[in-house]
Amino acid sequence: MSTHYTSHEELVRALNRNGQEHLAQQLNELGGSRREELFQQLVTYDWERLGRLVQTYVLSEGAVKIPEELQPAPYYPMTPAGPDQEAQYRAAWAKGAQLVLEGKVALFMVAGGQGSRLGFEHPKGLFPASPIRRLSLFGWFAESLHHMQRRFRTVIPWYIMTSQTNHDATVGFFEENDYFGLDPQNLMFFSQAMLPAFDLETGKALLKSPTSLALSPNGHGGSLTAIRESGALADMRRRGIEHISYIQVDNPLVRPIDPLFIGLHALADSEMSSKMLPKREPMEKLGNFCMCADKLWVIEYSDMPVALAEEVDPGTGRLRFLAGSIAIHVLRVDFVERLTADPDQLGLPFHRAEKAVAYWDPACGAAVSPSGKNAVKLEMFVFDALPLCSRTVILETSREEEFAPIKDADGRGLDSPLVARRALIERGARWLEQNGVLVARDAAEEVAGMIEISPFVAIYPEDLQAYELPAQILEGDTFLL
Ligand code: UTP
Repeated sequence: MSTHYTSHEELVRALNRNGQEHLAQQLNELGGSRREELFQQLVTYDWERLGRLVQTYVLSEGAVKIPEELQPAPYYPMTPAGPDQEAQYRAAWAKGAQLVLEGKVALFMVAGGQGSRLGFEHPKGLFPASPIRRLSLFGWFAESLHHMQRRFRTVIPWYIMTSQTNHDATVGFFEENDYFGLDPQNLMFFSQAMLPAFDLETGKALLKSPTSLALSPNGHGGSLTAIRESGALADMRRRGIEHISYIQVDNPLVRPIDPLFIGLHALADSEMSSKMLPKREPMEKLGNFCMCADKLWVIEYSDMPVALAEEVDPGTGRLRFLAGSIAIHVLRVDFVERLTADPDQLGLPFHRAEKAVAYWDPACGAAVSPSGKNAVKLEMFVFDALPLCSRTVILETSREEEFAPIKDADGRGLDSPLVARRALIERGARWLEQNGVLVARDAAEEVAGMIEISPFVAIYPEDLQAYELPAQILEGDTFLL
């Protein structure tokens, strides 16, 4: 970790210059090893830069700049629109498959988030996501990777970004599970950077204890600098990786390595590509893919002007801004290299999130648990790299096939484990039905039994053709493949 100040005095001057006098005072009040502990943490931050961030994003709210004259972003439809596009998709699949089998594609998973909505006491990747075996998310993705490595007789290195908070528990879990049978040489774990939380009213960095700051991960956009600073990008270069398949830890339905998507991206010379879903409603909580002056933007649902979000395309009768972002991307390695050449000039904006953050108050020397929002956390989002690309591609996918993120605790939101497990059951049933199996459904047309199809076995419905399948799955049956 870099050090920005070499002496106590230099640090204190920077703190005082940038509205953080309370930290300078706290340093002065501590003695011996406790002072050294706080000093060692504070010098890892550039307080001039943090001072500017506080002015822009904490003490004023007008930081999000929505580009003007937004237009809907074009995308490749899930089903090719005619024979020409069919041929294009076939060529793209072949190109993607070739890149995978030549070992030019890596999997990159962001798993540094705090998972506060889920309220699970371990890193989210340990969450028991699968319907029958209750296999963890990490275990589930490992099976998918096994499948693709076997299918393409190749090695697909897996890079996992953690945060300081969950790094050891994540690595420990892989060790305990013998890396789920993957070769640890092809797995790399690294942590993203953390940022202090700032008081909502005053912009002062909050302390967690007398000797440490209250820190949180700097957002999934922090992955772009973390991937370089950790040496992961250099490792990719050494291995001859050209494209990075980017996924989040929380969506068990995702196809971690999708040859069609990778191929469309590669053939278009795209620097960063994205998958999209048609939104269910104008203000669904997904980012909106929009074009402005030939650049692709993701406008968060909360920043999207309602009138625009509600516009209907007279031709199709569907929403004009239909494309919602689901955080599945492919990035070129050389694009990430260019973007992060000077990590201080990354060019991604910050987003402010107002949160309740527990802190230690130096004024009264006690820990405080606020009842409401008291702090601003600053995060970068990876999709803000899209407007920095010269070329981008968007591919439509299906919600039922590829999107059921685990965000909320059961009973506390739509994106719950129950919903994700149900989506896995329903997808498994559809694949079985497509292979001639009769699946019993209840009055609401929901699958009446329990079904789990491991990604080790199948990634696509046609993969099931290689297996002996039952003629039917009855109500109450449990079917695990
Ligand atoms: P979310 O935005 O859903 O946040 O992350 P979260 O931290 O998982 O959950 P909440 O909001 O606290 O409930 C989407 C993806 O981005 C990763 C997460 O691990 C998840 O895969 N992420 C998020 C990071 O890797 N780092 C971050 O700083 C934030």
